[in-house]
Amino acid sequence: MATTIIITGGAGFIGSHVVRLFVKKYPDYKIINLDALTYAGNLENLGDIERASNYIFEKGNILDTDVIANIFHRYQPDAIIHLAAESHVDRSILSPMDFVYTNVIGTVNLLNAAKECWNGNFTNKLFYHISTDEVFGSLGEKGFFTETTAYAPNSPYSASKASSDHFVRAYAETYNIPVVVSNCSNNYGPNQFPEKLIPLFINNIVNEKPLPVYGDGLYTRDWLYVKDHAKAIDLIFHKGKKGDTYNIGGFNEWKNIDLVKLLCKLMDSKLYRKPGTNEKLITYIKDRPGHDRRYAIDASKINRELNWNPSVTFEQGLNETIDWYLENKDWLQHVTSGDYLKYYELQYVIK
Ligand code: NAD
Ligand code: DAU
Repeated sequence: MATTIIITGGAGFIGSHVVRLFVKKYPDYKIINLDALTYAGNLENLGDIERASNYIFEKGNILDTDVIANIFHRYQPDAIIHLAAESHVDRSILSPMDFVYTNVIGTVNLLNAAKECWNGNFTNKLFYHISTDEVFGSLGEKGFFTETTAYAPNSPYSASKASSDHFVRAYAETYNIPVVVSNCSNNYGPNQFPEKLIPLFINNIVNEKPLPVYGDGLYTRDWLYVKDHAKAIDLIFHKGKKGDTYNIGGFNEWKNIDLVKLLCKLMDSKLYRKPGTNEKLITYIKDRPGHDRRYAIDASKINRELNWNPSVTFEQGLNETIDWYLENKDWLQHVTSGDYLKYYELQYVIK
């Protein structure tokens, strides 16, 4: 099917794993990575494939309609896999408009560019929009998010993602653009920016800094290894039903405090510290406003229809992730200088 694919946000955490998978697995495809290189985008994530003959990087902002039109005109893409976004909930509480611009307007800009470029000829064309389980809001003690759960976003981030999902749907209904959407749970793994729970806490443990647990620490997330998300995206891209949505998740729920204690224990051993040393860093702090209590994905549709299952256990994935951060201190050092320090101060010190 598609041969020329624009992947937006390919220099970010999940995007870089998707770009690598497609570049390596499909040598006949042309993969164009369109990324603005915000604080979260880092070309070091793709150092191993940057010279591949089927890979092209284009620095560009999805808010710039001229830049997008030019890129669509030059490459005439068969498909878009759209991951570019502002992705961190705490930042969305500090600066909601950044999320409206990139996540909502940026997505509509891309839809318009695809519509213009394809000009009614939709054979073998696809706009694949990557969304999140956060659009469904929060669950109680029981139950799961399914593909038919009503949207009820609670943070500016999830509201902006929900809005972009609605625009994708509306463009499919109104202009017949072939689309597919997937809503995934919390990812973890190598190359995740250390503002998100797991890499932030790994970094703080290494540096013997406090581990800031929000509220009572009993919030629940459903964790999926990023390479398994990338594999699900590959499957949905090639075999997903046009116009459909797919939930992706690990059936792997953890209360934050239990996860943090597991991280502390694994890292006591990896850092040759006495058992119990890292747990002493746990510090309960003021809760995140609008904090969703529990997320849990029912991934039975993608399992049933596309035969997808997570390939690694949480223990394997977490060990691999910690080892990656311990072996890539340079990467961590590069991304935690400059602007990151200002953000960290605003989020955690002035409270
Ligand atoms: P990330 O923050 O690590 O990366 C985002 C990338 O988008 C960066 O490379 C950044 O430079 C780029 N970008 C941001 N604004 C841009 C703009 N205006 N123009 C062009 N590029 C821009 O994000 P991530 O965690 O890899 O998430 C990727 C996608 O997956 C997002 O759409 C997110 O909503 C979704 N998602 C994330 C998770 C998760 O756990 N991280 C789970 C489910 C869904
Ligand atoms: O569910 C998918 C979503 O997962 C993605 O759409 C988002 O892009 C991604 O950021 C993530 O959102 P969360 O808000 O769940 O992830 P985060 O890593 O920020 O937080 C995970 C949990 O840990 C959450 O309950 C808040 C808590 N937390 C987080 C941080 C950063 C803390 O207790 N302390 C912290 O310092």
